[in-house]
Amino acid sequence: MKYLLSDRMQGMEASAIRELLKVAQDPTVIAFSAGNPAPESFPIAEMAEISASIYKNSPSKAFQYGISEGYPPLRELTTKRLKEKLNIGKDFDQLIIVSGAQQGMELSTKMLTNPKDTVICESPSFIGSINAFKSYDLNLKSVEMDEMGIVPESLEAIVKEDNRVRFLYTIPTFQNPSGRTMTLERRKKILELARKYDFLILEDNPYGELRYTGEEIPTIKSLDDEGRVIYVGSYSKVLAPGIRIGFICAHKDIIAKMVIAKQVSDVHTNQFFMMVAAEYLEKCDLDQHILNVRKLYKNKLDLMAGCIEKYFPEEVIFHKPDGGLFLWCQLPEGYDAMGLCKLAGEKKVSIVPGRVFEVDDKEISGTFRMNFSTPSDENIVKGVEILGAVLKEYLKNNKPV
Ligand SMILES: Cc1ncc(COP(=O)(O)O)c(C=O)c1O
Repeated sequence: MKYLLSDRMQGMEASAIRELLKVAQDPTVIAFSAGNPAPESFPIAEMAEISASIYKNSPSKAFQYGISEGYPPLRELTTKRLKEKLNIGKDFDQLIIVSGAQQGMELSTKMLTNPKDTVICESPSFIGSINAFKSYDLNLKSVEMDEMGIVPESLEAIVKEDNRVRFLYTIPTFQNPSGRTMTLERRKKILELARKYDFLILEDNPYGELRYTGEEIPTIKSLDDEGRVIYVGSYSKVLAPGIRIGFICAHKDIIAKMVIAKQVSDVHTNQFFMMVAAEYLEKCDLDQHILNVRKLYKNKLDLMAGCIEKYFPEEVIFHKPDGGLFLWCQLPEGYDAMGLCKLAGEKKVSIVPGRVFEVDDKEISGTFRMNFSTPSDENIVKGVEILGAVLKEYLKNNKPV
């Protein structure tokens, strides 16, 4: 049967790249392509105890409808934590619980854009958000980045010429995929440009608390004193992604509409897991848990970076991030990483070509992303050694394009 699909979905196809990434489903493949937290980082015993007590003591609350804003104790605890940890939350702000940060991006797009409006993404950016934007028939533009984050001149060149820019989407800290962190100076400059050219900033910060080295840098939201920044956070990377709990902190006028959008979308986030998360925040020590997770990931990052230094050819540049879950690598000038990723897959190691993270994934890119949080230590060593050999073979047998 031939189904008549919406224009919006017709334009969204499973790309060739996605096919390439399917190799990671083979259990014999060492997957550096995922972006998952380590399963051993989940606080399973505490969650099990809390879950059992909710089933026993408050089943009717857990199984009943809740409110679209989110379970009130979780909202309160998250609001308090944001203020204490990140100095986020002015008098005009409010918070809504959403079904993961991903929904935060979708709802923000739904309520702030009309078809053909412009949304600006970093180049590269998170594929889940790019796809959310694409599904709203927007004009997506890429802004250049360097090691310090968004290049302000590149952003200004776009917003000067385009009066339909609704928001800039940025992941300023330990960016997915590049691992980069925007400097404080750049954050201030970006906010200044947002004021000058009157656009909003959608700040996505799922990795902010996973810092292994270097100094904390204030979020853009904490620098915002007029409600120009919509801040999206998540418990996915510090507790567990399967519970699907994220949150948005923004001006109360935005949140008021967001509540309606949320109601239309899925009524409210899973009530049971909102209760579990609230009780975890109340009774357990999330800060200590995060310290343990940081230690686990720092060791994995150091191990992977050490192996890269040992096994990769010198001409492949890699960037060791101060936090997050990803390492970003760059082939010498002119090489395309697509062929490399295919060859690596054949040798049972999966990595992600940089193209995936571009608004236009047809453009040639010599970058690729490696994840260090999911593979075991043993597989990190084995996989990087294999990849080193694959890189040497690839660079020897291919010419820059
Ligand atoms: C930058 C970024 N934003 C958002 C998300 C989605 O997170 P959540 O699980 O909270 O929906 C991810 C997940 O990998 C991510 O990397």
